[in-house]
Amino acid sequence: MPTIQLDNLIKRYGEVEVLHGIELEMADNEFTVLVGPSGCGKSTTLRMVAGLEDVTEGEIYVDGKPVSHLEPKDRDLAMVFQDYALYPHMNVAQNISFALRLARRPKAEVHAKVKEVADMVGLTDFLHRKPGALSGGQRQRVAMARALAKDSGIFLFDEPLSNLDAKLRGQLRAELALMSQRVEKNMIYVTHDQIEAMTLADRIVVMHGGYIQQQGSPEALFKRPVNKFVAGFLGMPPMNFLNGEIKEEAGDVFVKGNGFSLRLQDEKAQAAKAHRVREVVLGVRPSDLVFDAEAPSDQALTLDVMVSEYVGAQSVLLCQCGADQVTVEMNSETPMALGQTLRFRITPNRVHLFDRESEDAIQSK
Ligand SMILES: Nc1ncnc2c1ncn2[C@@H]1O[C@H](COP(=O)(O)OP(=O)(O)OP(=O)(O)O)[C@@H](O)[C@H]1O
Ligand SMILES: [Mg+2]
Repeated sequence: MPTIQLDNLIKRYGEVEVLHGIELEMADNEFTVLVGPSGCGKSTTLRMVAGLEDVTEGEIYVDGKPVSHLEPKDRDLAMVFQDYALYPHMNVAQNISFALRLARRPKAEVHAKVKEVADMVGLTDFLHRKPGALSGGQRQRVAMARALAKDSGIFLFDEPLSNLDAKLRGQLRAELALMSQRVEKNMIYVTHDQIEAMTLADRIVVMHGGYIQQQGSPEALFKRPVNKFVAGFLGMPPMNFLNGEIKEEAGDVFVKGNGFSLRLQDEKAQAAKAHRVREVVLGVRPSDLVFDAEAPSDQALTLDVMVSEYVGAQSVLLCQCGADQVTVEMNSETPMALGQTLRFRITPNRVHLFDRESEDAIQSK
C-alpha cells in the first residue's frame, strides 16, 4: 500500500487562507480519520489529496512521489462522497462495475470483481436492483462497493454516513470497521462525528480553523489531549470544564474554584507546580466522576442536580457546581431527586488542567 504524506499544505481561496500548513504522514494500511467542526478544512484537505482542488502551496507525496500536478484519474485512489453519486439508470452491478467497464476490462474479470466486492459489503442479493429501489444504507454500500471495485491503494471518504438515521449509521459504522480490517488499503475518512472517529480510526487527526490540533491514536487523544479544544471535542458526554486556580498549601498542590478544592497528585501536582500561570481550567470527564457520598472533600465535587436525562441504564445528570455546569452519569436505579446535593469522587490521575489563557494542556512532557 502507498504511504501518503502531506507536506506543509496551504490552501487559499483568493485572499482567504483556509488551510495553514497541514503536516501529515499516513503509514501503510492505516485508517486515518480527519475530524473537526464544520468549516475547519477537512473536505478541502481530502479534495486536495483526490486532486479535485488545487494545492496553493506545499506538496502531496504518495510513496515518496509528488502527485499534486496529477489529474484525479492518474492518482491511485477511489472516493466515496456524502451523496454517493450513483447512476440512477444503472442497476447495482452496473454501478459497481462502471469504472472497470469503462477501462474495457474482460467480462469474466468484471463479473468476478462485482461478485467479490458485493459479497464484501453484503449486496449479493441486490445486484439487479436500481438505486431508486434501495434503502439509504444499501445505496451507501453500493457507493462503497463501487470504490472498492477500482482496486486503488488509497480510499477516500467524505462523511459517507451523514445522510443516514442514527441506527443505520451505527450499523454501517460497525460494518465499515470490519471491512477496513479485511481490505488492505490506506483510508482517509472525513467526519465531524467524534464517535465515528473514535471507533474507526487507527489515527485521529483533529482539525480546527484550518490547523491540525493534534493527531494520534484514539486512546492517546482521549487520555492526553494537548489542549482544551481537543479535550472538549472527543468524548461523550463532553468533558466538564471548571475555572480554578493553582494553590500550594503545606507542600500540597490544589486546584481551587467556586465550590471545589481538589488536591492534585503525582504527575498532575508536579506539572501544576512547575507551570507559571495560576489561572487554570480544570477538565473532568463525566466517566471519571463516580457517585460516592463518602468521598473526601479534596477528592470530590459536590453537585446540585438540576436536570436528569434518562437514557437507559445510565442517566445523565446536569448539575451545578458553584458557577459552573457539570455533567455526570449515574446508574438510573440510584434513588435521586432533582435539587438534591450529591457528592462525586474524582479519580485524581484522570483530571486535566489547561492554561486558562492559551488553553494548552498543563502536563509533564
Ligand atoms: N470554493 C470555495 N471558495 C471559498 N471558500 C471556500 C471554498 N470551499 C470551501 N471554502 C471555505 O474553506 C473552509 C473549509 O471548508 P471545508 O469544506 O474544507 O470544511 P469542512 O471541514 O469539510 O466542513 P463541513 O464539516 O461543514 O463539511 C470553510 O471556511 C469554507 O467556507
Ligand atoms: Mg466537508
